Amino acid sequence: MAKVIEALLAAMTLEEKIGQLTMAEGSGHGTTRDVQSAIREGRLGSLLNVHGSEIVRELQRLAIEETRLEIPLLFGLDVLHGHRTIFPIPLAEAAAFDPPLWEATARAAAAEASRDGIMLTFAPMLDLARDPRWGRIAESPGEDPLLGSRFASAKVRGFQGRSLSDPTSLAATAKHIGAYGAVTAGREYASGDLSERTLLELHLPAFKAAADAGVAAIMAAFTDIAGVPAHANVTLLRKTLRCAWGFEGVVISDYGAVAELVPHGVAADLAEAAALALTAGIDIDMMGDAYRRGLPAALARGLVGLEAVDAAVMRVLRLKERLGLFDEPYRGLSRDAPADDGLGRDLAREAARRSIVLLTNDGVLPLPPGLRRIAVVGPLADAARAMLGPWAAIGEGTDATTIADGLRLALPDCVVDVSAGVSIAGSDTHGIADACRIAETADIVVLCLGEDETMSGEAGSRAHPELPGAQRILAEAILDLGKPVVALIASGRPLIVPWLVERASAVLATWFLGQEAGHAIADVLIGAANPSGRLPVSWPRDVGQIPIFYAERPTGRPEIAANRFTSKYLDVPATPQFPFGHGLSYSRFVLSGLRSTTTEIRRGQHIEIAVDVTNEGPVAGEETVLFFIHDPVASVARPLLELKDFAKIRLRPGERGTVTFTLTSEAFIFAGRSLAPVLEVGEIELFVGKSADRGSLLRTSIRVIVAQDRLADQPVSVRSDPV
Ligand code: NOJ
Repeated sequence: MAKVIEALLAAMTLEEKIGQLTMAEGSGHGTTRDVQSAIREGRLGSLLNVHGSEIVRELQRLAIEETRLEIPLLFGLDVLHGHRTIFPIPLAEAAAFDPPLWEATARAAAAEASRDGIMLTFAPMLDLARDPRWGRIAESPGEDPLLGSRFASAKVRGFQGRSLSDPTSLAATAKHIGAYGAVTAGREYASGDLSERTLLELHLPAFKAAADAGVAAIMAAFTDIAGVPAHANVTLLRKTLRCAWGFEGVVISDYGAVAELVPHGVAADLAEAAALALTAGIDIDMMGDAYRRGLPAALARGLVGLEAVDAAVMRVLRLKERLGLFDEPYRGLSRDAPADDGLGRDLAREAARRSIVLLTNDGVLPLPPGLRRIAVVGPLADAARAMLGPWAAIGEGTDATTIADGLRLALPDCVVDVSAGVSIAGSDTHGIADACRIAETADIVVLCLGEDETMSGEAGSRAHPELPGAQRILAEAILDLGKPVVALIASGRPLIVPWLVERASAVLATWFLGQEAGHAIADVLIGAANPSGRLPVSWPRDVGQIPIFYAERPTGRPEIAANRFTSKYLDVPATPQFPFGHGLSYSRFVLSGLRSTTTEIRRGQHIEIAVDVTNEGPVAGEETVLFFIHDPVASVARPLLELKDFAKIRLRPGERGTVTFTLTSEAFIFAGRSLAPVLEVGEIELFVGKSADRGSLLRTSIRVIVAQDRLADQPVSVRSDPV
């Protein structure tokens, strides 16, 4: 086949080559006449936002039967958390800390989307996010590079399956490389400025993990780092991605982003924009039309050579080949939809249950049996579409169960009264009286607050990540009634609600859980499912704390309550409302007996660290155990905690089990002063616990001892003595 591709390249005109590098948008099921003639003339290699067997079949037929070279088209869509069956948003799913689950939902989404003619998904989104003002935190796996890396490999495995040529697989796109999550003040599309170290240690590891897992494509970020837009970043896209990591797949631009190099201020016209992007390594121009309009002039002006065009075309053709499109251009489409066996819905419900994080609980949950009347109050009580969250592909609000529906079904003998009280973002408070009326007669109030599906995701930045509209007024009116109140927060980000945390009997982060949201929430509230989600991000108590994350570096003046001149705020505590990893359960897990197989480690060796976990609670449940390290004396100050592994354990009441982590000396390597990897001798603190709350962790330590002779020819440099 390689020969066929090379022969194709040799036969192509410049226009046809640029066509392969051009991705245009069709609109949903339909497509315009322009797109059709562009296909016929070989001016388009791929399409986005076109799905459904009929239209895909027809457009593919044009490419195969009515073009000179019969090169099949590639169809791409943002299948981020499901196609038609919608799973929890990525931030929610990250809270499950569960790679097999992440893989399973991606696999199910791929199987469903590929039947609709989709071959390429613009997922997983892997941007490290430490700023809840940024709306795209909803699409991300959260604040931690290790968690993000595990998420990345699981999603790539899930989407791509065993082989890209399997018609149930999708080519995955790790997006958006270049520290998109570091936009200034959380404002969408804004410039970012960060150190090379931060890029290397925080923002790139998940992309490296995706590349190592064989991801087919990578998308560049809309944004720039210190004045260099990702789409023109040679160091990032060529030196790091292609040379250092050996990535051989396709690099895709974000929507219109090649042309946006002009307003970015680094290109004078489309020819310069096209030349910059192609030189940096962008193979496919998504909706910028900059390659079509700019590359011929760029070539004529000598800004870029034809060999760069050819290399990009070859990568695109190779992807089409790997997908099996030259043999089966209608891949996926011939498969009949399976009879609705409910398996997708079961998985969606399971994923949703596992994504819920129980933030506080004074004992009101699980709901006691025998409740006679509950009031389900708030604008999210009966909001089907909102449950799907942002980027819900072709999901339908009509497929989603609302919280009220879920509770009605779960509590058949209980009267379930429902009242919105206020709208999600409006200021009209007239409905609050009705909400209070039903709350007054209820045994318990379930208060359903939060955002709608448009308030996060792309272009969903909010300067005040709090409850929008008049929801606080509603909530306080309900809380003033003195009833037990269970507050559910539906959102694409942590919302700052310290007053609610203080006053409600229980608070749960229910994010956007997808189409089975209502059932999953009811399962957790009544105790049919024991909550096991853990926060993948630190949850702030005040907007002024943002960005907030657990892996802070030490300061020379750590906080001391009695000493003013230490690191703190005068008006709010420095600690988050809830730390990374926080999440309660109906079980009570106790960790004890932390031990390691050795107290010393040399390069190339490994250690095992074990901890016992006992379920001292009344019900079976699942605990997530987090394993952190801290290097207290190093050539570059290391974070106070760094997550190195996590594991889950299921235990019956009274049962004790052991969680074991195996670490190689690689885990202690970090970027030294020159950013080259170093393994330094000395003590490393090892911590195990349930969250990043330092005070709650079990601690032991190990010494890194390096045998100099064995390292002489190793690429990792070594300091023999800590300074
Ligand atoms: C813009 C978004 O940034 C990107 O994530 C998405 O894949 C494209 N639009 C296509 O929808």
